[in-house]
Amino acid sequence: MVKKCLFPAAGYGTRFLPATKAQAKEMLPIVNKPLIQYGVEEALEAGMQYIGFVTGRTKRAIADHFDISYELENEISGTSKEKFLESVRYVMNNGIFSFTRQPEMKGLGHAILCGETLMGNDPFGVILADDLCLPEPLNGDGVMKQMAKIHSETGCSVVALMEVPKETISKYGVIAGKDLGDGRYQVTDMVEKPAVEDAPSNLAIIGRYILTPDIFDIIRKTPPGKNGEIQLTDALLTQARQGKVIGYKFKGLRFDCGSVKGFVEATNYVYNNLYKE
Ligand code: G1P
Repeated sequence: MVKKCLFPAAGYGTRFLPATKAQAKEMLPIVNKPLIQYGVEEALEAGMQYIGFVTGRTKRAIADHFDISYELENEISGTSKEKFLESVRYVMNNGIFSFTRQPEMKGLGHAILCGETLMGNDPFGVILADDLCLPEPLNGDGVMKQMAKIHSETGCSVVALMEVPKETISKYGVIAGKDLGDGRYQVTDMVEKPAVEDAPSNLAIIGRYILTPDIFDIIRKTPPGKNGEIQLTDALLTQARQGKVIGYKFKGLRFDCGSVKGFVEATNYVYNNLYKE
């Protein structure tokens, strides 16, 4: 069973400036809950209790969010406002949190390598909190829970996939693979942010992964790729060539909260469907 989950959260959030000048983009709220808490709830639902964060400067609020605020507890315990703390108390009581930093922005692969000491020698989930994934309405499983099942059946690394319009494909890592049925693909090729004409398919990687721990040694040997950064997609290609990566077209909703448009769409969806006064 996969018990650990890593949250790379060191990026600058430039698309949300000036809001992200002095605060973490992962702390921006979708209605009343920070984006990163949705991701942590998804990890906990999948049974991933050990939560590691790879943060950076200006990101201290993330650590504070998952810690007790005595002043707040003292002010509102026993009052009618106590209900507003319920969800974060649940998360704090059920997760075990650890933190490290990525001192320089050298790509997603590098960020994950920075988390090696937090994840150790076990398979682990990775959640990019910018991609907000919500279960299908009416009690579907979260995306990470669906992926954990595939990992436990196959022992392989698992990447979340979504079909996207061809003209947007160059924003994503893209796979080629053999259709195994049930939304599963045996991944045979992967390319990070290809030009539209070079994309091997319209199956884009979304920010959910389960990685086997040999990925760390592979990342160490992976040279910088797209944009001069060490890309997780390139490291995963090494595993894919060994037949050890399954792509999975998940069931559920996904909002690109790294873009203003996706962020607003997520806000409207959550307000209309999930938020309770
Ligand atoms: C990262 C990955 C990319 C993936 C995407 C999903 O890119 O490198 O392969 O498709 O996340 O959101 P980023 O969006 O961080 O540039």
